[in-house]
Amino acid sequence: MKVVTTRAEVREERARLGRLGFVPTMGYLHDGHLSLVRRAKEECGHVAVSIFVNPTQFGPGEDLASYPRDPERDLALLEEAGVDLVWLPQPGDVYPSGFATTVEVDGVTDVLEGASRPGHFAGVATVVSVLLGVVRPDVLFVGQKDLQQSVVLRRLAADLALVDEVVVCPTGREADGLARSSRNAYLDAEDRQAATVLSRALRAGRAAYDAGERDAETLRRTIREVVEGDPRAEIDYVSLADPETLVELDGPVDKAAASLAVRIGRPRLLDNTLLHEADPGLG
Ligand code: PAF
Repeated sequence: MKVVTTRAEVREERARLGRLGFVPTMGYLHDGHLSLVRRAKEECGHVAVSIFVNPTQFGPGEDLASYPRDPERDLALLEEAGVDLVWLPQPGDVYPSGFATTVEVDGVTDVLEGASRPGHFAGVATVVSVLLGVVRPDVLFVGQKDLQQSVVLRRLAADLALVDEVVVCPTGREADGLARSSRNAYLDAEDRQAATVLSRALRAGRAAYDAGERDAETLRRTIREVVEGDPRAEIDYVSLADPETLVELDGPVDKAAASLAVRIGRPRLLDNTLLHEADPGLG
């Protein structure tokens, strides 16, 4: 496994690799990231990973300074997973002096995370454009855990022809259903228990949909009521939206993405499920 820092080193190492899958990360890796790495290795034969806590996607007052970091452990996990190339840049390698470009994806970024975290998706789209431009992979692998990010990155990749394919991999979950996230590290013991309310709420939504309920408002309310039942949970949003456009649905639904953002103690946690598709991880 090669670990490199500069754009030039990435280019040189990339040229030695054939078909390449790429997994961009902000580090503090968990099994959710590693499942993307395994899938990329399986599908492409070679895999590159970036570890970069991207300052431009954090708003004022967010957790940029305290975002959990453990590069040594990350590198050991990536080596064990058979990764070929790791890009561990300094901020100046991603954003060289004079950097003046911002990439904005319109429409799908106006709602949900985009509405709650102004500027977040411009930061994500900009950094992923740089990462793809430097690494030049064949396939980008992202997690469904960040549903809106996956929609934004598919749009970005298609519009700017930055990569041939974007593969969205299922959300990794702990045994009790909690979606894996680096920010779960912020949960104390009681909040960690309460955090299962997100997956329980989505399961209730799925149960209603599977039983034949199709009214958008009823499905949304079913999910919301489970979250409201937990006094530690502070809802940011509960959404039932079109899975492609992320526009909120009304009336009878066919395809529907249920997603929610809930603060529990310190972290703001996200989770989602596509009601019209099987979601074996959620049960
Ligand atoms: O999902 C993440 O960890 C980040 O948003 C990403 C895609 C690595 C961009 O910084």
